[in-house]
Order: sequence, then structure tokens, then C-alpha cells
Amino acid sequence: MERTFLAIKPDGVQRQLIGEIICRFETKGFTLVGLKFMKVSRELAEQHYDVHKEKPFFNGLVEFITSGPVTAMVWEGDGVVAAARKMIGATNPLSAEPGTIRGDFGVNIGRNLIHGSDAVETAQREIGLWFKQEELVDWQPTLSGWMR
Ligand code: TYD
Repeated sequence: MERTFLAIKPDGVQRQLIGEIICRFETKGFTLVGLKFMKVSRELAEQHYDVHKEKPFFNGLVEFITSGPVTAMVWEGDGVVAAARKMIGATNPLSAEPGTIRGDFGVNIGRNLIHGSDAVETAQREIGLWFKQEELVDWQPTLSGWMR
């Protein structure tokens, strides 16, 4: 079953949007298989954003993601990687469609509330970076039949 990595960034936590964001993925019908509330080390932040290390915004991004607690999550379901990206919306919240998380709650590209893996392979890499195998729970919601 497909899995994706999502993280509510420090601004989403500060804005008290944890419940709202989790609610969207739960009610959509995806399954939560990993969850932790944590401060991010500089090392983890730099590894996570490794693809952006040459970009002008890299240092600010690492500073920001390590500035306060984040909510790290793994969600499971058919097509969850692409669906979560759709639900999150465009990188710049000003361009993100209403109805998406960034479109509904954000205005600033550097404070866009949530991260979501951009592809299945990226998700596998990010899940491995953020979670130990024993922190992920294999389970099937028994009511999933009526939700899907
Ligand atoms: P990116 O992977 O392009 O976006 P996404 O989070 O939608 O997958 O960029 C990673 C983060 O870097 C992005 O969420 C916010 C930050 N960022 C900036 O601060 N400025 C920028 O110009 C870009 C492209 C990204």
C-alpha cells in the first residue's frame, strides 16, 4: 500500500492548524500510520531539504524548519502521494487554489504550513529519514469499507 510523508511545519503548529490538517486527511479516507510531534535537528532538516542545498532560500528554510516543533506524519492509501499534494496545493500559497490547505490558510511561500512528498520514491526516502520502522503501525481501519 502506498505511503506518503507529511509534516506540519512550525507555522502550521503556531497557527494551531494541527487538528484541521489531520482532519482533512482522516475524513478524505486516508490512514494514519505514523505520527510524532518533535523539534527538528539541523542535520535532519539539511538532509530532508538536500535537493535545495544550492538554492538561495536553503538557509532560511533550514532555519525556519528547526525554529519550532513540527508534526511529522506518515499516511497510507491508494494514490496518497499525489492526492496529498493536491490537497496541500501549490508551493506559493497565493497561487494555491481555495480548498487546498495552502490556499485556505497561507499567504507566504516561506510559511506554507505543510510539507508533502512529491513522488513515491521521495516518500520512501523521507519516511526512512524521519521514522524508524518500529514507529510505523501496520493496521487497517475496519470502517474503511463505507468510507471508500
Ligand atoms: P519545493 O520542494 O519546491 O516545494 P513544495 O514544498 O511545494 O514541495 O520547496 C520546498 C520549500 O522551500 C517550500 O515548501 C517553501 C520553500 N521555498 C521558498 O522558501 N522559496 C522558494 O522560492 C521556493 C521554490 C521554495
